Amino acid sequence: MSVDVLTRVSQEAIKPKIGSRVLNTKEELLSGAIGKELRALLEERGVLVFPEIKFTDEEQIAFTKTLGTFAPEHRGGEEITKITLDAKENPAAAEYLKGSLYWHIDGTMNDVPILASLLSCRVPATWGGNTGFCNTYAAYEALSAEQKAEYETLRVAHSVWASVFYYEPEPSLAKLKGMQAIGENELPLVWKHASGRKSLVLGCTAHRVVNVDAAWSAEILVGLREWATQEEFSYSHEWKVGDLVIWDNTGTMHRAEAYDPKCNRMMHRTKLQGEEPFE
Ligand code: OGA
Ligand code: MN
Repeated sequence: MSVDVLTRVSQEAIKPKIGSRVLNTKEELLSGAIGKELRALLEERGVLVFPEIKFTDEEQIAFTKTLGTFAPEHRGGEEITKITLDAKENPAAAEYLKGSLYWHIDGTMNDVPILASLLSCRVPATWGGNTGFCNTYAAYEALSAEQKAEYETLRVAHSVWASVFYYEPEPSLAKLKGMQAIGENELPLVWKHASGRKSLVLGCTAHRVVNVDAAWSAEILVGLREWATQEEFSYSHEWKVGDLVIWDNTGTMHRAEAYDPKCNRMMHRTKLQGEEPFE
C-alpha cells in the first residue's frame, strides 16, 4: 500500500499555547501525504519542530513544496538561503540580520507577507543563538473584550528605517535615508484573517500607531509586545544540528537570541509564498 493511505501526522505539543514536535519520518514527510494536515497543524500551533530530521538542501526544498508554493529569495531560483553572519557566505546579510535579534514578522513591507519560513540548523552557535517564537493568535485571543474592541480600530506605520535604531542608535543621515528609501507600510494592529481568526501585527518594524499621540502609541506597542512575548505564548528553540523548524509567519513573531557573532552559526532557510494580505 502507498505511504499516502496510511500516513497521518504524529505530533506532541511543546507548550499548551505554542509549538508542536512532529515525529514523522523523513520518508513520510517527503511523500507529501501529510502536507495538508501539517499546514493545518502549523496554523493551530504556530511553530512546528522536526527534531534532527537532517534534511539535505534538496530535501528541504522538496519538503517545502509539499506545504504550499515555494517563495524564491531571488526571481526564479528555488534555492536555499544561508542565514549566517559569516560575510564570506552571505555578504549582504550582516546588516539585515542585526534586525532579526528583535521580535519581528518577516515581510511587513509587503502587503502579502510570506506564509511561513522553514529554518534548519547546520552549525549551532557556540553560545546563545536560540530562536524565540510567540503566538500572536493566542496573545490576541487572551485580551479582554475592551482591549480587543479598542485595538481592532487601530492602524500602525511599519518601516525598516525605524528598526535601525534598535541596534544603531546614532546612524549617519546617509544610512537613515538609504533605509527610508525602502518605504513604509501602514498595517492594521489586528489582522482579521479569512479563517475568521485574529492575530496581532507587531514587531520592531512597528513604529507608530496612526493618529495617536507619541507617548500613547509607544505605550500600546511596548505593552502589546510585552504581552505577546510573555512565557505563556512563547517558545525558545535551542538548536541541534539537523533540526528543522517551521513558523507560521502570519500568526507568530520570532527573533534570533544573541550569540557570538564570530561563531559560524549557519542556518538554511526556505520560505512559503504568502496567501493572504494583512487586513
Ligand atoms: C529569519 C530569522 C532567526 C534566526 O530567518 O527570518 O529571523 O534565529 N531568523 O536565525
Ligand atoms: Mn525573520
